[in-house]
Amino acid sequence: MPKIIDTIRTRKSVRQYQKSKLSMRLIEQLINSGRCAPVSMDDHHPFFFAVEHREILDKISDYSKKTILADLEKGKSQHYKMYTKILMNPNFDIFYNAPQVIFIFGDSRNPHFVQECSFSAMNIMLAAHEKNIGTCMVGFLNEGFMRFLNKRIIMPQTYKFTVALSVGYPKGKNKSDKRRKKLYQYLSRDEIPD
Ligand SMILES: Cc1cc2nc3c(=O)[nH]c(=O)nc-3n(C[C@H](O)[C@H](O)[C@H](O)COP(=O)(O)O)c2cc1C
Repeated sequence: MPKIIDTIRTRKSVRQYQKSKLSMRLIEQLINSGRCAPVSMDDHHPFFFAVEHREILDKISDYSKKTILADLEKGKSQHYKMYTKILMNPNFDIFYNAPQVIFIFGDSRNPHFVQECSFSAMNIMLAAHEKNIGTCMVGFLNEGFMRFLNKRIIMPQTYKFTVALSVGYPKGKNKSDKRRKKLYQYLSRDEIPD
């Protein structure tokens, strides 16, 4: 079986990490894998930002939990309701205490920035898995957390936060190995309706 197929098949989200950080070289390799994803135009491509300062990550996590819970109280963001208990846990870190997090921003002047950032994220997750590095996409975020990063990054206002990936060496074995439901159907030429 080609290696890439096996890498795709065996990748799973990792939610427990060792404390040790990835080297800068490895982070760069992962980001470069992200940069190899397809892009739609000649300009306005994703911007990658890696954070390893625990204090900043903790602040972002606390702020995100707080704002999501406040939204829930106001009757907004109801899709997060099932996570209320976990979001109320002061010890829950939305990044699962990963030693590093890669944030991907897209330039909203590019109509396809969400797709570009998502493809980049997938490339990073697969490249990481190939190197026995774990990743998890983090959805408990909104743009509000940018105020914690604004002092540290200089980015045009048109760039919007799109994806965050926790990265780090996995702790223990990843026991999650559930198979996906079959949600596809072959449509052969004979089946195309008139
Ligand atoms: C847009 C998006 C947001 C996600 N956000 C979170 C998250 O906040 N926390 C988390 O633990 N997993 C998150 N995930 C990971 C999914 O839970 C995971 O991919 C899914 O359960 C399938 O498992 P697998 O990645 O191990 O195949 C997210 C995935 C996507 C695509």
